[in-house]
Amino acid sequence: MKVDVLLGLQWGDEGKGKIVDVLTPKYDVIARFQGGPNAGHTLIFDGIKHVLHTIPSGIFHEGKENIIGNGVVIDPIIFKKEITALEALNCPVSERLKISRKAHLILPTHRILDAASEHAKGKAKIGSTLKGIGPTYMDKTGRNGLRVGDIFKDGFREKYDALVEKHIRLLNQYDNFTYDVKENEAEWFESLETLKKLPIIDSENYINALLKQGKSILAEGAQGSLLDIDFGSYPFVTSSNTTAAGACTGLGIAPNKIGRVYGIFKAYATRVGSGPFPTELFDETGDELRKIGHEFGATTGRPRRCGWIDIPALKYAITVNGVTELHMTKADVLSTFKEVKVCTAYQHGDQMINELPFDLTDQMIPEYKSLKGWSEDLTQISSTDEFPSELMDYITYLEEVLETPISIVSVGPDRNQTILRDEILA
Ligand code: GDP
Ligand code: IMO
Ligand code: MG
Repeated sequence: MKVDVLLGLQWGDEGKGKIVDVLTPKYDVIARFQGGPNAGHTLIFDGIKHVLHTIPSGIFHEGKENIIGNGVVIDPIIFKKEITALEALNCPVSERLKISRKAHLILPTHRILDAASEHAKGKAKIGSTLKGIGPTYMDKTGRNGLRVGDIFKDGFREKYDALVEKHIRLLNQYDNFTYDVKENEAEWFESLETLKKLPIIDSENYINALLKQGKSILAEGAQGSLLDIDFGSYPFVTSSNTTAAGACTGLGIAPNKIGRVYGIFKAYATRVGSGPFPTELFDETGDELRKIGHEFGATTGRPRRCGWIDIPALKYAITVNGVTELHMTKADVLSTFKEVKVCTAYQHGDQMINELPFDLTDQMIPEYKSLKGWSEDLTQISSTDEFPSELMDYITYLEEVLETPISIVSVGPDRNQTILRDEILA
C-alpha cells in the first residue's frame, strides 16, 4: 500500500480539515506530518462545529487510527485542551490517537520568543499565530529541542531548565519587551500528564509496518504550499515543509511509498498574516468574499485577506507537490458574484510574468481573465448534474489551465455538502 497525501495549495485554510473528515471512511489511518497548533482545521457535521489544532481530522471516526508524526510540534497545554474538549463530546481520543516519540515540544518560552521576535520586527512582522512554531523548529534544527520521548527519561527537568535558560538569554537581547517565564510553566508540566497517558510510538516503524499489512494511510497537511519554509513566500512563511516532501520526513515514509497527492484549493484565495498577495482585493468584492465566506482565522480569529485565484501560484504548488487530483472548496461562496476573475500572469514593470517569481511582491499587477459568475445557491445540491453551467465552465477552465482533474467540489462547510465528481473518480 501507499500513503496518500492531502495538502493545501494556497496560504492555508483551504478546507483541509473538512475534506480529510470526508475522506476518512476510505482510509485506516490519518496522520499529521508537520506544523502544530498554528493550524486550525474546521469540521462540521450533525450541526456541530469542531476546530482541531494538533489532532488529525480523522479523530471522529470509529475504528480509525490517528497519528501525530515526528514532524509535528506539540504544545502540551493546547493539546490537553483539545483532548478535554473532544472527550467531553464522548470522542474516545486515547483509543484512536498515537503520538510519535520524536515529535518536538513547544515550551512556554518558545511562545514568548515568538512574541518577542514579532514585537521586534514591528511593521515587518510575519503575522505569526504566536504559538511558538518558529522558535520550536529553530531549536529542532539547532539541535536543542525537547522531544516527546524525552519526557520519560531521567534528567528531563534539567534539560527543560537548561533550554529555558538559553531562551532567557535570547529574550534579554530584546528591548522593551516584558515577559514572565513562569507564567504557564506549572500548567505546561501538568498538561504533560495528559500527553503521557496516550500511546507514544516510533511512528516511522509503526506506519511502515501498517503499510506492509496493507493498511491505507492518509497524510494530512497543515498550512499551505505558499507557506512552505522552502517554497513559500519567504520570509512570510511558517517554519516547516508543508509540501508533499514534508510527509516523507514528517512520518518516515520513503518517497516511493507516496501514492495520490490531493491538492486542496479555495475557489478564490485568502491569506492571514503578512506577506505578498498580488490578487488581494481591497474593495467591496474583497469585503463580500470575507463576509460570505466567513473568512476569519480558525486559530486566531483574525480577518483573512481575500482575493481572486492565482493560477501561476497554483501551478507552482501543483508542481512542487506532484498533485494528482484537485479538490476545490467554497464554490458556494462565489454564488452572487456577477463575474469570477482568475489571475493568469503578473505585470511587473514592463515585463509580463506567468510563473511565481523569487521576489513575489504586492507591486505585481495581476493580469485577469474574467469568467461569468452564477447566482444559484449551491449549498443544497447533491450532484454535479445540478451545477450551474457557469460553475461547470469555471471547473473546466481550471482543469485545463492547471492540467489536473478536480475530483471533489465542496459547496458548504458541512461534511454532507461535498460533491464527488464520479466521472473523475471512476
Ligand atoms: P483548513 O485549515 O484548511 O482545515 O481550513 P479552515 O478550517 O481553517 O478554514 C476553512 C473554513 O471554511 C472553515 O470555516 C470551514 O468550515 C469552511 N469551509 C470548508 N469548506 C467549505 C465550503 O465548501 N463552503 C463554505 N462556505 N465553507 C467551507
Ligand atoms: P491551517 O493548517 C493559515 C500563517 C500565519 C503567518 C505565517 C507564520 O489552518 O491551514 P506561524 O504561526 O506558523 O509562525 O505563522 O503562517 N499560518 C497560517 N495561515 N492557516 C494556517 O494553518 C496557518 N498556520 C500558519 O498567519 O502568516
Ligand atoms: Mg485553518
